[in-house]
Amino acid sequence: MARKRILTGDRPTGPLHLGHYVGSVQNRLALQDEYECFFIVADIHTLTTRPERPHIAEMRGNIRAIVADYLACGIDPERSVMFVQSAVPETFELTTLLSMLVSVPRLERVPSLKDMANAANLDVMPYGLLGYPVLQAADILLPRAHLVPVGKDNESQVEVSRELARRFNNLYGEVFPEPEVLIGDVPSLVGTDGGAKMSKSLDNAIYLSDDAKTVDRKVMGMFTDPNRVRADIPGRVEGNPVFIYHDAFNPDTAEVDDLKSRYREGKVGDVEVKKKLAGAINAFLDPIRARRAEIAGDEQQIDRILTAGNEAARTEAAATMSLVRSAMGIAG
Ligand code: TRP
Repeated sequence: MARKRILTGDRPTGPLHLGHYVGSVQNRLALQDEYECFFIVADIHTLTTRPERPHIAEMRGNIRAIVADYLACGIDPERSVMFVQSAVPETFELTTLLSMLVSVPRLERVPSLKDMANAANLDVMPYGLLGYPVLQAADILLPRAHLVPVGKDNESQVEVSRELARRFNNLYGEVFPEPEVLIGDVPSLVGTDGGAKMSKSLDNAIYLSDDAKTVDRKVMGMFTDPNRVRADIPGRVEGNPVFIYHDAFNPDTAEVDDLKSRYREGKVGDVEVKKKLAGAINAFLDPIRARRAEIAGDEQQIDRILTAGNEAARTEAAATMSLVRSAMGIAG
């Protein structure tokens, strides 16, 4: 039996951060052998909120940065397909056909779309942004993926893909597997400022490409229990971003348990807790840094990987589109 497939990916709005890692990248790495993997750099999705030319001009660099992050994390181009959304024109075709199968009120209920509109300071909803989950469904359904590893914020979007696959199959016959969502160990990672989630636009992110000094600085500046103005005041561990990160990135659970109980009793200073966290995050990032150093800025290698990936993704997309057209019985 052929291996089942994964499709997931990222918008090229900037480099990947720790939230991406624990939300999705970790699962990609764990499943890279078991599944046939397709990783999309979704450049067209970024146009849903930022269609202006200066933004597009930044895209090529951002796409390469994301692929460099993938490689640094250990995604292996020999095993997994990495490609750019706009290089697969079948994406636009399938998006149009799928858009007939979902209602406007259904899309208006997808919570993340309003968040994206607000974050981009848009006072009206662009048609394309309302269609964001339909475009995402086309990404997922073109390689006929079975599994979609994403962070929590993407869950409601992937639900639309599931509904579209079911609706298509009911109307026209079985073409698509119903894709399942797989949420990471930390479904949504808080920002260093304690804000709801880590995000480039909120400037509260630690990047996979940050050097050790930058990590030290960001961790030492992290939001923690605001009531704890002195080290001898008992502190709150639950919901405290510093401890959330310890749980996520410090493999030394005995150390973490010890810090937590001393923190609760007012027997450890924030500086010690943060220094140990910075050490843990830097140890976690070190192998990623080492792999990154090997590929350091080899743009030609990245471009070769994408050229091959684009071609592989297109081959799958074309095969799916011929199934789609014949299932639907459209003439052209
Ligand atoms: N929506 C994803 C994000 O938040 C990016 C994305 C585009 C995606 N197409 C996808 C994720 C398909 C999973 C599957 O950046």
